[in-house]
Amino acid sequence: MKLIVEPATGPLNGTITVPGDKSIGHRALLFSLLSQTPVRVLGLGDGADNGRSAKAITALGAKVAKDGAAIVITGTGLDGMTAPAAPIDCGNSGTTIRMLCGLLAGQRFATTLVGDESLSKRPMRRVIEPLAKMNASITGKGTGVDIIPPLTVGLASGPLAALDYTLPMASAQVKTAILLAGLYADGATSVTEPGPSRDHSERMLAYLGAPLTVRGRTTTIDTRGWDRRLAGAGFEVPADPSSSAFLVAAALVAGAGEVRLPGVCVNPTRTGFLDAIAAMGGQVALEDHRDAGPEPTATLVVRGAAHELRATEIAGDLAVRSIDELPILAVLAARARGTTVVRDAEELRVKESDRIATTCAMLRSFGITCEAHPDGFTVEGRPDGALEPGNVHAEGDHRIAMAAAVAGLVASGTTHIDDADNVATSYPGFAAAMTSLGATIRTA
Ligand code: S3P
Repeated sequence: MKLIVEPATGPLNGTITVPGDKSIGHRALLFSLLSQTPVRVLGLGDGADNGRSAKAITALGAKVAKDGAAIVITGTGLDGMTAPAAPIDCGNSGTTIRMLCGLLAGQRFATTLVGDESLSKRPMRRVIEPLAKMNASITGKGTGVDIIPPLTVGLASGPLAALDYTLPMASAQVKTAILLAGLYADGATSVTEPGPSRDHSERMLAYLGAPLTVRGRTTTIDTRGWDRRLAGAGFEVPADPSSSAFLVAAALVAGAGEVRLPGVCVNPTRTGFLDAIAAMGGQVALEDHRDAGPEPTATLVVRGAAHELRATEIAGDLAVRSIDELPILAVLAARARGTTVVRDAEELRVKESDRIATTCAMLRSFGITCEAHPDGFTVEGRPDGALEPGNVHAEGDHRIAMAAAVAGLVASGTTHIDDADNVATSYPGFAAAMTSLGATIRTA
């Protein structure tokens, strides 16, 4: 699929309900498999990636039924999973495959996990190494550099062993995989991480009654004296801040009468992009704050003529807290006065595409100077005048495609974005949402 974007002819306007957060959706599905009571999930996003997790838990013995706007998941509990009849296809979803590794590490049957072309290139050693230390058996394709899918996961012999592990990189997927395996280990399994990766697993496992504690950057599952029971009435999935970031950025660069995005997850591990925007001088108001459930939410509001942005530096913890938003922040940097530097973001190399390379290539196609570094990139902003119309190859990466679509709003002519099918992995309604805000964008 191709996206074709015309320059914006005026400010954007409207209220968009962005679909449920992808990270929280995966966890609502996979954790409910472990519940002994049915779990009601409201607001699950319609992206293909969450669909992969839904299919995976069905293959492992859960029942997933619609109940009005919600779904109800009847899980198997910790010990009732059944061997799937066929390999589980994780599609494009890194979160599905890595969290499944943790869930399946303690099972007495072996499961094969496969993925699409992009997922089949992504590194899995980071999850295999700690789980193997816990006595799981995980095999994959060796490349010499790393281990890639297909993976076959099961228990080597005997029960899983508890582990005290320090992550070499801030990764919520790896952290979660170890914590899930820890539910099956005897004793205390601890994960310490070097940066503040998203903490939805900690919040949601605690809600289900897992024996979990967090101290600083260390999370522990201690199964001693635990009755091996997880249960909870339900999860409400807030709107996805990562998907919202594209609409926020669109309103900032094109200008907005008023663009409102209600019910967006504003968990501090996810709001790095809002902090980066504030540092650039962009104004995003947070209204209707709620902090009732496990996740805080707010309405994001952008108003006013195209915001005057200035360059910034994104590094350290801020890079971790905005890791999925760096492609769209790069588009904002392209409209900012000065040179923006992104550092400490080498994890971008192993996302759905090599996002250091694809972000730079995308910006260059709009005539912007962008230099790649091993752990980030430098963007020379062009705040005055239009960008050149882009001819972008999204390399199958949803976030590159959507970031390019936003840049296309401030180009001098029609922007073409190829290989954009995977927008459907996280935000199938993206083009429709942009259109309803007043942008001209179509698919071909
Ligand atoms: C995710 C964690 C991050 C993020 C990904 C979703 C999650 O990946 O980039 O989009 O839901 O846990 P890493 O765990 O590889 O950092």
